[in-house]
Amino acid sequence: MSVPESFDNALPATRVSDLARVRGPDYLEGLNPEQRAAVEATEGPVLVLAGAGTGKTRVLTTRLAHILATGRAKPWELLVVTFTNKAAREMRERITHIIGPAAEGLRWLGTFHSVAAQILRRNAELVGLKSNFTILDTDDQERLIKQVLEAENVDAKRWTPKAMAGLIDHWKNRGWTPDRLPPSEGTEFAGGKGQTLYRLYQERLRVLNACDFGDLLLHNLTIFMNNPDVLADFHERFKYVLVDEYQDTNVAQYLWLRLLAQKRQNVCCVGDDDQSIYGWRGAEVDNILRFERDFPGATVIRLERNYRSTSHILAAASGLIKANKGRLGKTLWTESNDGEKVIVRGVWDGEAESRLIAEEIERAKKGGTEKEPRKFRDMAILVRASFQMRAFEERFVMLQIPYTVVGGPRFFERAEIRDVHAYLRLIQSPDDDLAFERIVNVPKRGIGDTTVQKLLHIARVGGVPVMHAARQAVQTDELAARTRTALSNFLRDLDRWRAQAQTLHHSRLTEQVLEASGYTDALRLDKTPTAQTRLENLKELVQSMG
Ligand SMILES: Nc1ncnc2c1ncn2[C@@H]1O[C@H](COP(=O)(O)OP(=O)(O)OP(=O)(O)O)[C@@H](O)[C@H]1O
Ligand SMILES: [Mg+2]
Repeated sequence: MSVPESFDNALPATRVSDLARVRGPDYLEGLNPEQRAAVEATEGPVLVLAGAGTGKTRVLTTRLAHILATGRAKPWELLVVTFTNKAAREMRERITHIIGPAAEGLRWLGTFHSVAAQILRRNAELVGLKSNFTILDTDDQERLIKQVLEAENVDAKRWTPKAMAGLIDHWKNRGWTPDRLPPSEGTEFAGGKGQTLYRLYQERLRVLNACDFGDLLLHNLTIFMNNPDVLADFHERFKYVLVDEYQDTNVAQYLWLRLLAQKRQNVCCVGDDDQSIYGWRGAEVDNILRFERDFPGATVIRLERNYRSTSHILAAASGLIKANKGRLGKTLWTESNDGEKVIVRGVWDGEAESRLIAEEIERAKKGGTEKEPRKFRDMAILVRASFQMRAFEERFVMLQIPYTVVGGPRFFERAEIRDVHAYLRLIQSPDDDLAFERIVNVPKRGIGDTTVQKLLHIARVGGVPVMHAARQAVQTDELAARTRTALSNFLRDLDRWRAQAQTLHHSRLTEQVLEASGYTDALRLDKTPTAQTRLENLKELVQSMG
């Protein structure tokens, strides 16, 4: 985060409250009475339960501005959590729009994971990690699980690392450490070895000074529960807690919120039980029901006026969700006009669907006797899963309909970005075995799988990091001459980059690594359609490092 530690001093205490006087509460204008009530009920627990497009996020943002503008808290005393980085960014922008640069001090505004990661960095030693711990991505996670499975003689073909990763994630989302795992849970995997494997995996993570995504919250929970003084510090710090998309919280996130908010009880959650999309990730609509139990006397506010859609669209949506079980029930209304009716069409398959929709698009583009022509950029297609896009893309290429794909794998999940990350990790911490394994032969430098397995074996037997094993191996004739040379060159490169890291800016270092390792050259020669995009992504990454 770009806010300097000294920001506390940089912003005079009076300035935020001055804003209220200067600007007046004009940010409250235009809110409907229920929205306004939700903004102004700053003290005590508040649950805003409302349908899509009723202004929940707007309420949360305005409430945040209101708390700051009336001097109830400083920006760094607010804990604000959203579900995606994009949502966090948008919220920050909207607040900046209302209160100006003071919004920069919102140090604790982010996703559950990013806020939990910040908390963990400051308290890592309490769970046996160092503050510079690595956060593993799913590839690394599966690689590590594979090692654990092999060490325990579990058949990784039958009990795949992916399945184990899913199971561990599920347990972590429910707030279960290996010790807290209910007896019935560990029994199914690998003939009853689930709990043992989970424990070994956690031990390996600790040795590697690493954690996976699920650990971020889980370790926070452990820290809070075992260290009341640390929790008390956070109670002192966070005067107000605000949560968007509350319906998507899983059990671990809920416990985390409850621990952080239980003292002051100034917690405001906004959500919609009808929009819970993460059910399969352990999200619990129950959390909404539990809120009223855990925070007795909570003010519950319902927003029913929709500002986003026409009444036909609302009616169609209500008709569908009416059939859902376990909902709390609400009726949306709007003042906007009826609009066009929603049309439902059944088609045989994806091909037929793309044909139909492409025709529809061309018709809309042309316009008709009663209809204005539409622009391509005003049309959108939503799909449930990305594989469904293929048929559309093929069709559009054929008909020369221009399109852009929004979504797809997120930037930091792309292979090339993860590769760079692994290089930098290995430069920073030579003991990072997972990073080593990932890039030792990326780009291809003649160090094949057999060699890697040999090195892993030497490392395991000697109880040393793989890098260490590699240094040993190049001194002996255990490897073929050609492999030995390739490996020595690789080790020499790493040493050089490590020395350069002392003086070079990390964007320059990254450029060096990409060029000298042959990574960019390999992509330049690559004739597959994605190679160009991947080069651009790398450029983007280097630029973003400033
Ligand atoms: N009182 C209001 N007057 C005019 N427009 C409003 C009002 N409240 C909200 N809106 C507009 O309605 C739209 C939806 O608002 P918002 O995104 O806050 O809703 P939401 O309930 O968070 O939606 P979702 O369920 O998708 O999260 C936005 O464009 C917002 O500016
Ligand atoms: Mg919203």
